[in-house]
Amino acid sequence: METKKFTATEIDQASALIRQGELIAFPTETVYGLGANALDEQAVKQVYAVKGRPSDNPLIVHVSDFEMVKQYVTEFPEHTKKLVDTFWPGPLTLIFKVKPDTFSTTVTGGLKTVAFRMPNNKATLDLIEIANIPLVGPSANTSGKPSPTTPQHVYHDLQGKIAGILEDGPTQIGVESTVLDLTAADGVPVILRPGAITKQQLEQVVGKVRVDQHLVSEKEAPKAPGMKYKHYSPDVPVWIIDGDQQVFEKAINWAKIKNKRIGLFADEQVVSMFSNEVDEVFSFGEHSVEEATRLLFAGLRSLDEKNIDVIFAQAFPETGLGIAYMNRLKKAANQNILKINSIFE
Ligand code: TXA
Ligand code: MG
Repeated sequence: METKKFTATEIDQASALIRQGELIAFPTETVYGLGANALDEQAVKQVYAVKGRPSDNPLIVHVSDFEMVKQYVTEFPEHTKKLVDTFWPGPLTLIFKVKPDTFSTTVTGGLKTVAFRMPNNKATLDLIEIANIPLVGPSANTSGKPSPTTPQHVYHDLQGKIAGILEDGPTQIGVESTVLDLTAADGVPVILRPGAITKQQLEQVVGKVRVDQHLVSEKEAPKAPGMKYKHYSPDVPVWIIDGDQQVFEKAINWAKIKNKRIGLFADEQVVSMFSNEVDEVFSFGEHSVEEATRLLFAGLRSLDEKNIDVIFAQAFPETGLGIAYMNRLKKAANQNILKINSIFE
């Protein structure tokens, strides 16, 4: 299959293909999504097939406005309007109880709820509106690879397997949306996946917000089936470096003694300090969690393609956006927070 490139002027063609049951990758402000008609079970199954992932994971349904959601949900919880008015379009996914017999279990993962999101990308909002159907959109990567934040990442993983890619340059945020469950019995919204919309931002709008425990306790069984997969992992092992210059020094010295070739993902200051000591570097520029998050997946992908044995990646404090950044980085590091002393044993 030839994978066609579409630009913002060719959205009609891309929409037509979606309506025919084809898969089209689309840009969002978070990561590129793999789009298919959410009401077409065969198309949704195909999404899993091309990603190479089992289909027991509920998917986010992407809409072009809140009106679209109303067809699939009977009753909205009290905070819905405020959340939608404040954060849509944007990186906030909302989970509602869904009308029976609307979406197939391939979309819902067999749950009685469905996740909806209105992405903040003009081309994709046009794509959905013209197709006039909601789209599933898991990240447009091969299962196990970091999520794609550029059209090139999507080509790398899915060329020849999907009908097309709607291109719109690199994404702005770099990690997937915050997932907020509005269906808890006590009415308190629950964060199931941290993203760029932080707990604090949500609390300013709706008052109390809970964080699902599995996000803090890694041993606990996952609530959403999707949580059990090892996501975002490059093939090269990743170690999180949580500390100052000395910690980087120790880690680099240890790797050298072990004859390991080193890749470094860090800010410009750290990268310039150690560029002569390591084999490959990826700098995310100034020391900012926004920049680190925006370039995390691109950095991991880039280093993963180099001839190295280990990636050392810089930690950020787990507050605000740092929670989402560290959540993805820990997954890339296979859930191991590096206790820096442990590697010298
Ligand atoms: O930023 C994003 O959200 C990206 C872009 C492309 O929009 N999309 C994305 O979609 O990450 P997806 O379908 O891969 O997200 C699925 C995750 C599941 O792993 C699960 O955590 C949560 O969303 N989810 C979806 N439906 C759910 C439900 N009914 N109950 C609980 N969690 C659900
Ligand atoms: Mg994904």
